[in-house]
Amino acid sequence: MKYKIAPSILSADFARLKNEIEAVKEAGADLIHIDVMDGHFVPNLTIGPPVVASVRKVTDLPLDVHLMIEVPDRFLRAFADAGADILTVHVEACPHLHRTIEIIRSLGKSVGVALNPATPLHFLEPILEEIDLVLIMSVDPGFSGQYFIPNTLKRIEAARKMLDSVKRKIDLEVDGGISEKNIKSVADRGANIFVAGSAIFGQSDYRDIIKRFRAALDES
Ligand code: DX5
Ligand code: ZN
Repeated sequence: MKYKIAPSILSADFARLKNEIEAVKEAGADLIHIDVMDGHFVPNLTIGPPVVASVRKVTDLPLDVHLMIEVPDRFLRAFADAGADILTVHVEACPHLHRTIEIIRSLGKSVGVALNPATPLHFLEPILEEIDLVLIMSVDPGFSGQYFIPNTLKRIEAARKMLDSVKRKIDLEVDGGISEKNIKSVADRGANIFVAGSAIFGQSDYRDIIKRFRAALDES
């Protein structure tokens, strides 16, 4: 499959997390997206390394850890040891982004860099050659269930052009307000990984909603 679906467990039932993760895997998820929030970088508190370690024990799907935290350098090793596969940091939270990227690389993890909706894309230029994934936020991070900001489409298109100028393959992930209705237009602009929280976990039949995502992407 050309496209990857990454359910965000922020919208899952945390009391039944193992079952929720197994259910989205069976339904065809490609990655498990884990939203880490510190109450400073974003106005919400969520998951820390112990929960990531527990998730690691119950799935072999890659863990896509989205760090919405200030000074992420302090916690990279803890999340790596907990079993993260991709560590994504926000450019807005990293004054020494090059160093942060080197730390993630030295831990043997894939490197992701995220941008908030109002952050210019040119922040990516100096580090493009060094990363594996760009995460374009299509909502202001902090909560699931927000609406997709329409201007994101132009940003995805521009980001895809930048990524295509680099020889290495770099994934382009989009996070926030993804639905069956907009997933195709997001893919057409050049994204290949789609995070979805409420659109998946808000349904009773995960297999059916992921199937509808794939159908919208012409992948059924
Ligand atoms: C937003 C998080 C997202 C969020 C997505 O701050 O980074 O991953 O959980 O949820 P939905 O798909 O409901 O917008
Ligand atoms: Zn996220």
